Amino acid sequence: MLYIGIDLGTSAVKLVLMDELGKIHNIVSKEYPLMFPKSGWSEQSPEEWFAQTMAGLKELLEGCDKSEVRGMSFGGQMHGLVILDKEDKVIRPAILWNDGRTTKETKELNEVIGTELLVKETGNIAFAGFTAPKLLWMKKEEPELFARIEKIMLPKDYLAYRLTGVYSTDVSDAAGTLFFDVKNRTWSKKMLEICGISHIEMPKIYESYEQTGCLLPEIAGELGLSENVVVAAGAGDNAAAAVGTGTVGAGACNVSLGTSGTLFLTSDEYCVDEGNALHSFCHADGSFHLMGCMLSAASCNKWWMDEILHTSEYAKEQENITKLGENEVYFLPYLMGERSPWNDPDARGVFFGMNLGTTREDMTQTVFEGVAFAVRDMLEAARSTGVAPKVTKICGGGAKSPLWRKIIAAVLNMTVEIPESEEGPGAGAAMLAMVAAGAYPDVLSVADKVVKVKKTEEPDAELVEKYEKAYQKYRMLYPALKQVFAK
Ligand code: XUL
Repeated sequence: MLYIGIDLGTSAVKLVLMDELGKIHNIVSKEYPLMFPKSGWSEQSPEEWFAQTMAGLKELLEGCDKSEVRGMSFGGQMHGLVILDKEDKVIRPAILWNDGRTTKETKELNEVIGTELLVKETGNIAFAGFTAPKLLWMKKEEPELFARIEKIMLPKDYLAYRLTGVYSTDVSDAAGTLFFDVKNRTWSKKMLEICGISHIEMPKIYESYEQTGCLLPEIAGELGLSENVVVAAGAGDNAAAAVGTGTVGAGACNVSLGTSGTLFLTSDEYCVDEGNALHSFCHADGSFHLMGCMLSAASCNKWWMDEILHTSEYAKEQENITKLGENEVYFLPYLMGERSPWNDPDARGVFFGMNLGTTREDMTQTVFEGVAFAVRDMLEAARSTGVAPKVTKICGGGAKSPLWRKIIAAVLNMTVEIPESEEGPGAGAAMLAMVAAGAYPDVLSVADKVVKVKKTEEPDAELVEKYEKAYQKYRMLYPALKQVFAK
């Protein structure tokens, strides 16, 4: 039997066709534009997501026996605000996870409502990218549009709604709205009241691996699939990626180097870090996780290569980088502001320490190092909760670079395991569909069977020492610049 995983990313939707044993039969990727209407704003068209997903599904299924397709599910960019009116029309472009327009609303939530109440109700404080501050922003800035809201959904849930007609979400994605009581896996009535939306019906909550419905007859007909294809709720992209890399059960770790960068730590128990630098969310395997999220990770390298060096030869630019651990140049990767640990939408990218001897290679190298140091910042926050992971999986576009993996292993001083499948969230989504369709009893069993590690990167002891010194210098930079960013 075959299963489809749909990873609704920020630059593209990636679709994976996988069998129960984890063999990938086809992969398709369809891009769509990202709009930055103002500095720090970030929007996308939900209709475009759907159109590209349908086009991608048709391409994915070309030449395969469609009667073999048994299930489908999603991993999706988190936190995005998608709103529909009473005719089910999209009211405005989606406001994305990396949008920083809600500085004021975020501050109000944290200072007026107070972090104590927010954490009690949701397990989290407010971050600019979360869904609740975006609704508060709309209420103030776009009151006519706000008044038309009938349905509130997250990006992947819009796809599910168009494909199945079911208004649903899953616990891992709902956790990132700040309307969700993570500990009890249900909507927080109090938060819905605080944000003035208690009158709006929220989507029905499912565990990520539960079936929400089947394909609508017209969609099944258009794709040539059976109407009985099982559709599972799916997960936020990070929880889906964690499933796809086998980061399930207690005490596991995953680093994702995609448009965003995340450090994902699984836990059997609900927990919150003391400084609230990390997100406390539900995991797609039925448990919980802590996660740090930086807003620009592999996107820093993409920006540096595409916009500054004007090259598409990413690997070639890395060939001449030989002086690891000795760079005098530092890079703060805050191109879209920063989430964990600083929670500062006003922060921006910085190169520091150049001299007349600085080379192109030093600059490229520091982009990789800056991102690795920012992941280390999140690891330090996680360590404050008492966890001490020694091994991590890695996924995302940035994980394809052996150089970056080596730097990550040394900066974190952790063994880095590279899974065979590079399709983190897409593979995870297909695996969730397998559980919903009954091919496996639970998420742990499917991960155990399907995920294989193809390579391991051990931290190089000499490099660990050099990077430890460099990290101590790096971590002084943001506090020194905080006031300047605020101006
Ligand atoms: C997680 C987050 C990002 C997006 C990227 O909190 O905001 O990782 O999910 O798609």
